[in-house]
Amino acid sequence: MRCGYDLEVLSKFGVKVSVNIDPGTHCHALITGSSGSGKSQTLLYLIGSLLRSDPETVIFLCDFKNSNDFGFLSSYKYYYQGIDCYRGVMEYYAHFNQARKEGAWERCILLIDEYPAFITYLEAMDKADKTHQAKDILSAISEILMMGRGLKFGLWVITQRSDSAWFPSGSRDNFMLTIALGRLSREQAKMLFSGEDIPDRIYKPGQGLLLADGQALREVAFPMIRDARDWKRHILLALSRNSSISKPDWGPD
Ligand SMILES: Nc1ncnc2c1ncn2[C@@H]1O[C@H](COP(=O)(O)OP(=O)(O)OP(=O)(O)O)[C@@H](O)[C@H]1O
Ligand SMILES: [Mg+2]
Repeated sequence: MRCGYDLEVLSKFGVKVSVNIDPGTHCHALITGSSGSGKSQTLLYLIGSLLRSDPETVIFLCDFKNSNDFGFLSSYKYYYQGIDCYRGVMEYYAHFNQARKEGAWERCILLIDEYPAFITYLEAMDKADKTHQAKDILSAISEILMMGRGLKFGLWVITQRSDSAWFPSGSRDNFMLTIALGRLSREQAKMLFSGEDIPDRIYKPGQGLLLADGQALREVAFPMIRDARDWKRHILLALSRNSSISKPDWGPD
């Protein structure tokens, strides 16, 4: 799938050279950046791009912040908002467990926007209600990160900051694709891209660094979607079609 354009070539020569990633080998992605760095826009672009390259992908989207960006998916059966994101992750995890028993099906990806805010909220609720929802989510996420690839069960986590505490047992190391958007502190850059030669450049919203396992660190420009209405319409059509083709023994919906 096309992840964006090589920023260096684009800014020097005005030529668009695609940066392509195989979602099969790089199925877990960490997308990070401060508020306003272009995470949601980029996510929208990447969803459309993934559906272009892999039209049968089934996507689960957990939108904890209830943002306007994904409101167009409100009728989609695997779209979860606010506290309903708990159900979203657990349903995805149930499908993942079923695939472990019965073998992989189509490529599936779980997207969680504002992941740390979601976990922090659950932790507070757990304290008040004596529940263990945060623990359920953390262990499901860590299992998917460690074992999802072979089953074609991916995970894209979108976060303002990346902290290893959100990914138990070192499972953060299983992200094969890391994207950092906009202005990035030296500390974050070092943590995300340790050992890499980090360019000394200030990125605008929608620009940043991309590191894919086995490839060099690249500076990338993610395009602003020109016709967002049309782009969203195509996404909703594709997702609705894919989610309605159920495997016969896929279990109750
Ligand atoms: N690829 C892009 N090219 C140019 N400008 C962009 C791009 N992506 C985002 N922007 C600009 O940055 C603004 C913020 O983008 P976006 O809402 O995606 O950020 P965000 O990181 O999701 O913010 P938040 O953390 O507050 O949700 C957009 O309204 C747009 O003006
Ligand atoms: Mg956002």
